[in-house]
Amino acid sequence: MKEENQNDLMDKIISLAKRRGFIFPSSEIYGGFSSSYDYGPLGTELKYNIKNEWRKEMLQFQDNIVGLDTAILMSPKVWQASGHLSAGFSDLLVECSKCHHRFRDDMVSGNKCPDCNGELMSARKFNLMMKTFVGPVEDDASVTYLRAETCQGIYLNYENVLNSMRLKIPFGIAQIGKSFRNEINPGNFIYRMREFEQMEMQFFINPNESDKWFDYWVEQRLNWYIKLGIKKENLRLHQQTKEELAHYARAAYDIEYKFPFGWKEIEGIHNRGDWDLSNHSKYSGHELNYFDEKTKTKFTPHIIETSAGADRSVLVFLLDAYEEIKGGRTQTTKATKEIETVLKFNSKIAPVKAAVFPLMKNKEPLVKLAKQIYQNLKKNFLVQYDEIDSIGRRYRRQDEIGTPYCITVDFQSVEDKTVTVRDRDTLIQKRIAINNLVDYLNQQLEL
Ligand code: GAP
Repeated sequence: MKEENQNDLMDKIISLAKRRGFIFPSSEIYGGFSSSYDYGPLGTELKYNIKNEWRKEMLQFQDNIVGLDTAILMSPKVWQASGHLSAGFSDLLVECSKCHHRFRDDMVSGNKCPDCNGELMSARKFNLMMKTFVGPVEDDASVTYLRAETCQGIYLNYENVLNSMRLKIPFGIAQIGKSFRNEINPGNFIYRMREFEQMEMQFFINPNESDKWFDYWVEQRLNWYIKLGIKKENLRLHQQTKEELAHYARAAYDIEYKFPFGWKEIEGIHNRGDWDLSNHSKYSGHELNYFDEKTKTKFTPHIIETSAGADRSVLVFLLDAYEEIKGGRTQTTKATKEIETVLKFNSKIAPVKAAVFPLMKNKEPLVKLAKQIYQNLKKNFLVQYDEIDSIGRRYRRQDEIGTPYCITVDFQSVEDKTVTVRDRDTLIQKRIAINNLVDYLNQQLEL
């Protein structure tokens, strides 16, 4: 997409997301709720598919990684040990002396308020942990926090998983789940929210091998996005400087995406060293280490972490798939200047895999056969049935939500038991025997 179109690309994505049921503003009937969003029916599928690909990558394609699903609420001591209650997990906040709006220090230039041009007061630290109370009494003893990263639950279960699964180093533990941060300036749609989902994997290694595994995971994670169709030119790696490193990290690479609002992080790969296991050993008094049977030595494993945002991934997959094509793409578009929108999702990610149309809705044999085909395909794929409007409009509706294949049942179908299968990207239509449809789609979709 050309530079001049970049600015309104976000608006188009936000509007498409709402109109076609991908993402809705949260609490909309109450006027919305700051930077909270709800996933609609198609957004839910899209996000689920992304998470599922991540799970498959970690738990099936990689070696020696197991899954976990831990609690959001944990002992508040966890967050002392992890360093998240200290200054390290704070943003610098500046407040306007006139309108009292607050901004992240790094998001304003100069000492003038971006909203009212008033004088900004000096910066102070603002901790990002979301506080809550557990039980009926709201006092200091009942304070805890919503987790700010999912990985802490993994560290707490390091020993449980190691022992129950009889694992040997190097091994990984992967989990997907919600995290919460009281971000000062959330924004850019689902890019920065206060409630978001992370896909995190912690790889426990011998400290001698940290460089090797760090390089390995940087490469693997970058390739994951490329494998799922994200354009290479829209991805890059950024090595964090000492000043940028999080309090727990010795080294870090960000995978960045070229968003319409600039190059921004979508995933971090961190060398966390022994920060987490050592601190949890110290604060809990429960030693977390590893005994190597071969060398008969005991050590604290180091951790290489891959930490991706599920919501940021959804945004990346939507933006990267979005294409506008000047009219005439579908057979029945009359005005050639009309713009047609296509989401060119990789088929693994696409919410709907195929749609079945009878050529006309009032012709009983066509409708009957189309419904039979639909019922049969449903057993294998998430498919839609649509008989409303012209075929051209039905194609356009499916293109706009990224459905890879549209199947049309016409008069010939009733005669010879074949259908046309139209490819979203090449627009090529092939006649396929109804009996071979499942095999054909399986082959094409490569799910
Ligand atoms: N456990 C390490 C960790 O949490 P991070 O760089 O703070 O590292 C990792 O976060 C990923 O989580 C980010 O790359 C991003 O994709 C996602 N993420 C973090 N904060 C977010 C927010 N406020 N809204 C949406 N996604 C966020």
